[in-house]
Parts: sequence; structure tokens; C-alpha cells
Amino acid sequence: MKDRNLALEAVRITEGAAIASARLMGRGDRDAADQAAVEAMRRAFDHIDIRGTVVIGEGERDEAPMLYIGEEVGAGWKNDNSPRVDIAVDPLEGTNLCATGAPDALAVIALADDGQFLNAPDTYMEKVAVGPECKGVIDLRESITWNLKRVAKALNKEVGDLTAIILERERHADIIQEVRDCGARIKLIGDGDVSAAIATCDPSTGIDVLFGTGGAPEGVIAAAALRCLGGEMLGRLHWRSDAERTRGIAMGVSDDDSKIYTIEELASGNVMFAATGVTQGAFLDGVHFYGGGATTESVVMRSKSGTSRRIRSRHRFDRKPQYSWS
Ligand code: FBP
Repeated sequence: MKDRNLALEAVRITEGAAIASARLMGRGDRDAADQAAVEAMRRAFDHIDIRGTVVIGEGERDEAPMLYIGEEVGAGWKNDNSPRVDIAVDPLEGTNLCATGAPDALAVIALADDGQFLNAPDTYMEKVAVGPECKGVIDLRESITWNLKRVAKALNKEVGDLTAIILERERHADIIQEVRDCGARIKLIGDGDVSAAIATCDPSTGIDVLFGTGGAPEGVIAAAALRCLGGEMLGRLHWRSDAERTRGIAMGVSDDDSKIYTIEELASGNVMFAATGVTQGAFLDGVHFYGGGATTESVVMRSKSGTSRRIRSRHRFDRKPQYSWS
């Protein structure tokens, strides 16, 4: 990507989505909050000088009117010098979190040079993610116990002092039991395995490893973030139906169901990642509204430089009418 400022531009996109969905925090309507984020994100693209193609978005064209897979976005399509980028979006990561006012809902975007994200279908992905010190020590073919021992060794900790983060789901009962049998600690979360994967790269969170199965698109977006942060992630697709598998293979993923995708296969090349907090969380502060405006906290990262920036912004609705109630 030629324009390093693009990373900062990307933040405008997530800020807009975060403010729009934060207005609907706690209303109990996850679809409305998601819709608000999608519309704001789609509008924000019109002000960014890119030739962007959505590769991970809100679904297929026939099921999503905006930010559908294959949609061309950005203001640069009439300018041959505008950067061409693949775009992966999750306008509201953690729709339930926002609908209930729970922590860690995010607006998220990842950008890559052409063709660098796995075209992940809307299915599940089994994931393991760790921070930079544990690069090269994890393996999805091995047991949870094996992985915990390797992570503990890399971090120079006892297994009993490790913390695994896991989505609280029925399907994770065996994983949770095995982590408990090893004596390691667990943070169970209701939703949001993108911020959970990122947490493994930030020692201040106390999280050492993510285990479990979540959304495949979220897996690719988390991989983009971990590429920037120097962490590691592995993923294996878990189809929920034959129809999903057929669709996924048509989108270009492997027909080998046992294939384990490396972090580079999930998100390769030069990638950048931006996220803005919607609800207050461990990773990012949420949107705060004040008289006449709102504040946001975002993070923006680039894999090329490994730089990660935190950006606190104060938005005035009289100067930015797009952020006002319409
Ligand atoms: P949404 O924002 O689409 O609600 O996804 C939240 C999430 O928790 C993701 O972080 C995770 O990957 C996925 O849902 C898990 O799916 P499921 O809720 O079906 O277990």
C-alpha cells in the first residue's frame, strides 16, 4: 500500500460506524445496531480515496444491500492512482454486546493489497491465537494440553498461571474441561473473539491464548490484526452444512476440510487494521456522548512497520453533520 496515511483514513470509517451503533447501545436490538454501523461505514467509504473491494463483509450480494462481498467502495474508482485494496469489514463486532451494553463491542476494518485475504465464507472457524512470544509454538492438530504446555514454556510461566480466553458456548464444553483439567485459568466471554484474539498480544490484558470456534470472517479480521502485532493464529474451517461447504469452495477456499490455515494464509501481504470501541471495553474505550459531540478511542496498525497507534478523537456534531442524529 503506497499511502501510509491510508491507515489513518481507515480510522474515520470505524469511528463513524462506532458512533452510529453506540447510539443504539442497550436497546436490545442487535440488528438495528448492526444496520446503523453498516450504513455509517458505507457512507464513510465515499470520502476515502481508495479503490476498495469488499472481500469480507455483510454477506452475498443477494442477502446484503451494503458492504456485500464484491462491492466496490471508495472515492477513488475514477482515479487510476488511487490504491487498490481488499477490504474486510465487521461494522459491529459483537452485535449482542452492543444490544445489551456489555463490554468490548467494536467497529472493525482491515485493508490489504489486492487479493491478500482468505475469501472466508460465512461459516465457523476453529482458532488458536497467541501473542508474539509464542510464535511458532502452537498447533491446532495437537491437544489443548499440548498447546498450553508449549505456551507456558514460551512465556516462562507455570501452566496454572496461564489464562485462556474462550467463547462461552455449548460446543466448547470439552475445551473448557481440558483447560480446567490442566489447572489453567479461563476467561469466558459472551461474544467478540476478534478483541479476544487481540488481547493475547497485549500483556496488560493478562490473556495468554485464545481457543475455540467462532466466525470464519472474524478469524480473517483477527489474523490481520495479529499480523500487525506480531502474534500468531491458526484456523481450520468448520462447515455447518453441505450447502455452506459448496458455497465456500466456490469462493476459493480449500476442499480439504482438515486444512489448517496459517496466519499468512488468512491475511497475507501488507495489511492494516483499524478498530474503534463501541461499548467500553478492556481493549478500547467506548463512545462517550457529550453535549454537541462524542469522543471515540481507536487503534490503527500496519503490518509493514509493526506500528500500532491509539487515537482518541473528539467529534463535534455541528462540524460533522454525518455524526448527528438524522
Ligand atoms: P456478531 O457481531 O456477528 O454478533 O458476532 C459476534 C461473535 O461473538 C464473534 O465474535 C464470533 O466469532 C461469533 O459471534 C461466534 O458465533 P456464534 O455466536 O454463532 O457462536
